[in-house]
Order: sequence, then C-alpha cells, then structure tokens
Amino acid sequence: MTEHPGGRAAGQVRVWDIFVRIFHWALVVAYFIAYLTEDDVMILHVWAGYIVGGLIVLRIFWGVVGTRHARFSDFAFGPRAAARYMLQLVTFRAPRHLGHSPAGGFMVYLLLASLLVAVATGLAAYGAENKGPLAPLFSTGQSVALPALIAPAYADDDDDDDRRNGGEHGDEFWEEVHEVFANLTIILVIAHIAGVALASLAHWENLVRSMITGRKRAP
Ligand code: HEM
Ligand code: HEM
Repeated sequence: MTEHPGGRAAGQVRVWDIFVRIFHWALVVAYFIAYLTEDDVMILHVWAGYIVGGLIVLRIFWGVVGTRHARFSDFAFGPRAAARYMLQLVTFRAPRHLGHSPAGGFMVYLLLASLLVAVATGLAAYGAENKGPLAPLFSTGQSVALPALIAPAYADDDDDDDRRNGGEHGDEFWEEVHEVFANLTIILVIAHIAGVALASLAHWENLVRSMITGRKRAP
C-alpha cells in the first residue's frame, strides 16, 4: 500500500484522531481493571475508576472542540435514529457512515452517561466509607448524612451503630446504586462490541483496526 506524505495511505481517509484512539483504548483498559477488581484490590479499583472519570471529562471537552468526526455535532443522533439504523443493520440495508453511525453515535452517549454515573456513585460509595474526595459529604460517620436523607430505608437501627463505628455499613445504599450502574455499563459494553462486530460485517470493514490506525476506506 502506498504511503502518501502525512501518513495517508492510498484510498484511505483519516477518521479517528489520535486523541479519540488513545482515549478509547485507555478507557477499555481502565474500565476492565475497575470492573474486574471490584473490592478485592480497592486502591486499584478506585484509581482505575478515577482514570475512567478523567477520560470521560476530557472526551466531553473534545466532543465540543475536537476534530470533525470526534465532535458531538457529527453524530447528534437520538434513540429513534439509532433504532431505525439498527433495523437497517440487521437487514443488511444500512448505509455506511465514515464517522459514527446513528446507532454507534447514540451508543457513545449511553456509554459516556452511564460511565459517568458509575464513577459518581463509586465516589459516593467510597465517601460513605469515609474515604476519597467526597468523604465530607457522604460519610455516615459525619454530620452531613446525605444517604440517610435520600435513602431513609437504610436509616434503621443498624445505622446508629454504623455511625458510631465510623460508617462501616452505612455505605450500603451508594454501593447498591453503584453496583446497578456498574452492571448497566457492562450490558452497554457487550451491546457496543456486538454492534461493532455487526457493522464490521455489514460493511465488510475492520472497525477495530480503524480505531487503532485511525483510518478507514475512502467512501
Ligand atoms: C475490547 C472491546 C472493544 C472493542 C473491539 C471496541 C471497538 C470500538 C470501535 C471499533 C469503535 C468505533 C465505532 C464506530 O466505528 O462508530 C468504538 C467506539 C467507542 N467505544 Fe469501544 N470497543 C471496545 C470496548 C469498549 C469499552 C469497554 C468501552 C467503554 C467502557 C468502549 C467505549 C467506546 C466509546 C465511548 C466509543 C466512542 C469513541 C469516540 O467517539 O470517542 N469501548 N469502540
Ligand atoms: C466505571 C468505573 C467503575 C466501575 C465499572 C465500577 C464497578 C464496581 C463493581 C462491579 C463493584 C462491585 C459491586 C458489588 O458487588 O457490591 C464496585 C464496588 C465499589 N466501587 Fe466501583 N466501579 C467504578 C468506579 C469506582 C470509583 C471511581 C470509586 C471510588 C472513588 C469506586 C468505589 C467503589 C466502592 C467503594 C465499592 C464497594 C466495595 C465494597 O464492597 O466495599 N468505584 N465497583
């Protein structure tokens, strides 16, 4: 394959910039570390979670100021457009998109949103254990007992003991919410990978490779 000046191969166009590619694969690694470590190696779990959070904040910024196909305006698709595209995809009638397709683009929003909530609730659960930056706000051992206000069901007799014990079990509410969102993210990730496989087949192109090289076949 002929390489043109600027690293562009013949018949290929640059689609994903270097930021999007590094963001993606760093996210994959940090996400799986966070998901698989759970509470076995808490410090690893928490730091992987912080990295996920940081990456997402940067990606949102890049979605506004980034290169053409990285910008949210390039894939401003809602659930209807996504559903319509999925229908076309499974019947092998879907048009090819150089950037994100309507289904792929909508999935990006779902992933970013649920990952952000997973990180936020993780921070709250950690805070409830009197650790991390949100400890002053969420610690059940402190005067501001936010979980007790939001989740009165957990403000039972046990909680009094928990407060005296520095909130050992008062973190349960945020832990449960965190678990729900962590599990939602894994469902979305599985759907995301299945979608990538299906779109790769439908258009007979290696989308995983283009997320590595940044290039796709010219339209
Ligand atoms: C190892 C399995 C994975 C593979 C093979 C994979 C592959 C891909 C591919 C090919 C794209 C581009 C889709 C397109 O052409 O429209 C993409 C985008 C994306 N993937 Fe994955 N992915 C994987 C895992 C994950 C995980 C675990 C997450 C999140 C935790 C994730 C989040 C995203 C996001 C947010 C985008 C949008 C990229 C952007 O526009 O910045 N992926 N992925
Ligand atoms: C996307 C990022 C994250 C994912 C996918 C994730 C996933 C999980 C999962 C699957 C669990 C086990 C739930 C259970 O069975 O009880 C868990 C627990 C927990 N996570 Fe995360 N987490 C993430 C980020 C964070 C962050 C950023 C923090 C804190 C700063 C955090 C703090 C915690 C805490 C405190 C627990 C409870 C551990 C215990 O049992 O004591 N997580 N997380």
